[in-house]
Amino acid sequence: MAQRPVIVDCDPGQDDAVALLMALASPESLKVLGITCVAGNVPLELTQRNARRICELAGQPDLPVFAGCPRPMLLPLTTAEAVHGKTGLDGSGLPEPTMALQDRHAVDFIIDTCLSAGDGEITICTLGPMTNLAVAFVKAPQIAGKIKEIVFMGGAALGPGNRTPAAEFNIATDPHAAQVVMEAGPPLVMFGLDVTHRVITTPARLDAITRIGSPVSEAVTGMLTFYDRNDPDRYGERGGPLHDPCVIAWLLQPDLFRGKQVHLSVETGSPLTMGQTVADWWGVTGKGPNATIMDRADSDGFYSLVVDRLSRL
Ligand code: RIB
Ligand code: CA
Repeated sequence: MAQRPVIVDCDPGQDDAVALLMALASPESLKVLGITCVAGNVPLELTQRNARRICELAGQPDLPVFAGCPRPMLLPLTTAEAVHGKTGLDGSGLPEPTMALQDRHAVDFIIDTCLSAGDGEITICTLGPMTNLAVAFVKAPQIAGKIKEIVFMGGAALGPGNRTPAAEFNIATDPHAAQVVMEAGPPLVMFGLDVTHRVITTPARLDAITRIGSPVSEAVTGMLTFYDRNDPDRYGERGGPLHDPCVIAWLLQPDLFRGKQVHLSVETGSPLTMGQTVADWWGVTGKGPNATIMDRADSDGFYSLVVDRLSRL
């Protein structure tokens, strides 16, 4: 498989951390050009710090990490320390990073990288609020032609939200950024709650990660133990969903997932449903598809891939 050049935009976050580790463990498939950080789960100064801690855990301190937007485009920043802890990476046991943060702004890195690439060459993965990518499209709309696809964790097409009754956290945090991205042109591949709630880190799956017996698996076990969103009534079994790694798993093994091409848009007017992702699942609007929305996953195959990639580091 040829290396796919990717930029990973994230708000680490324990699940972001697992996604980053999987990406960094897959050089035969992915060329991670850089990691761009955004405010989301925790403020920007913590997400960029955590991204650097994860790069060092993966043994890749030379990977460029960039800080981006410290707040959503219009809404005030709302964070999720209750889920991820005060540091955003509680449970990891990781030390302070020693690798430097890049001076360039994340938005400028996204723009510069896309403008120097060939048409349709770059894959953008977003694992948090889409603020950085949206601002890049506003500043340099011509980057759209350089982007192969935007593969993102966010939204909920067929069910309720997790931040509000209508909206998933990443989209609810910056719905205006999501609208800019959805209207920018590149094809979208959406990993929303419809599919991420089908990949649950059960005790047996967490044990399989722990049995790797490495510093990486020790840190991941600590993170996922802290991040335990255990709610059998909600998820149908013990454990919680592993959202962000679905994005990387699809890039590595697309047959683990199944979805449908539909028109996708986002609510940015109603206070009640702000950030709701609206999928025209039955084509009633007549609008052409702009997104593939994933709704099925091979969860055993997914966790086998997670263990395989973490075992490489
Ligand atoms: O709703 C789940 C998403 O919100 C994940 O990306 C998680 O890291 C948080 O950012
Ligand atoms: Ca995230």
